[in-house]
Amino acid sequence: MRQERVTVTAVRAMKARGERVAMLTAYDTPTARLLDAAGVDVILVGDSLAMVALGYETTLPVTLEEMLHHTRAVARGAARALVVGDLPFLSYQVSREEALRSAGRMLKEGNAQAVKLEGGLEVAGTVAALLEAGIPVMGHIGLTPQAVHRMGGYKVQGRSAEAAARLLKDAVALERAGAFSLVLEGLPWQVAGAVTEAVGIPTIGIGAGPRCDGQVLVTNDLLGLFDEFTPKFVKRYANLRETLLQAFGQFREEVRAGAFPGPEHSFSLEAGETERLRRLTARTRPRKVAALRK
Ligand code: KIV
Repeated sequence: MRQERVTVTAVRAMKARGERVAMLTAYDTPTARLLDAAGVDVILVGDSLAMVALGYETTLPVTLEEMLHHTRAVARGAARALVVGDLPFLSYQVSREEALRSAGRMLKEGNAQAVKLEGGLEVAGTVAALLEAGIPVMGHIGLTPQAVHRMGGYKVQGRSAEAAARLLKDAVALERAGAFSLVLEGLPWQVAGAVTEAVGIPTIGIGAGPRCDGQVLVTNDLLGLFDEFTPKFVKRYANLRETLLQAFGQFREEVRAGAFPGPEHSFSLEAGETERLRRLTARTRPRKVAALRK
C-alpha cells in the first residue's frame, strides 16, 4: 500500500510531537527510491550536487538548469518523502522577481514540493514573497556554502556571543517570514540549541550538534563515497568507496583474463541453429563459422 506523502505541514507538526526529522540529499532517481524506501522524511536536492556529483570545487558554479534536471530525477523516485529543491547561487539574490521565477520553476519544472535558500534577515523579504506565491521555503543559516568566499572558507559560524545573537535574529526573522523549517549548518551545539528553542519551526542540523529537531547529511558523505575531505560532523554509515573500487578492479581483472563473461552471462543460438548457420554460410565465411563449433 502506498504511504501518505510527507508535506511541509507534516514536517512542521513533527516538532510539536517531539519527532525528529531525518533528511538526506539525493541527486538521482535510484537514490531517491532508496531513501524513500528507508523512510527518510525529507529528500534535499542540495546544491552540494556541484561538489559531490559534478566535480566542481564549490557550490557556486551549479546552475538552475542543472538543479532542475536533478530535482526532476529525484522527484520521479520519491513517492513518499518531501522533496526540497535547493536554489543555487545567484538564482534568488539579485531580485525578488528572479527569486520567484527560480523558485517557481523548482516546483513547476523540478516537481519539488518546497525550495531551500541560504541567508538570514537579508532574505526574509524574499521568503515572504515566495510564500505569498504558494512556494514553501526551508531556510539555511550558519555556515552557508554559497558565501564561502565571504566566510574565508568553510568555517564554523556563531562562535562569539555577538555572532550567535545575530543568528538568533536571523532564525526568528525567517520564521516570521514563513519558512517551514531551518537548516542550521556549522554551529556550536549551544547556539543550535538556543535557536531550536527560540523558534516554533523544526531546525535540521548539519554540524550543529544534537539539540536540533532533525539532522541532515550529504548522502555521499554518509556512504563513504566522497573522500576529498571528511568534515568532523560526518558519520560514515558505510564505506562504499572501498566496495566499489574492489568491484571495478575485479571486473577489470576478469575482462583481462577472459574470465568474464562466462557461459552463464552469454546467450546461445536456438537448438539446432548452429549447424544450419554453418551450412548457410559455409561458402561465404568458412573460417568464422568454424569457430562457432568451439
Ligand atoms: O547542498 C546541500 O546538500 C545542503 C545540505 C548540506 C544542507 O545544503
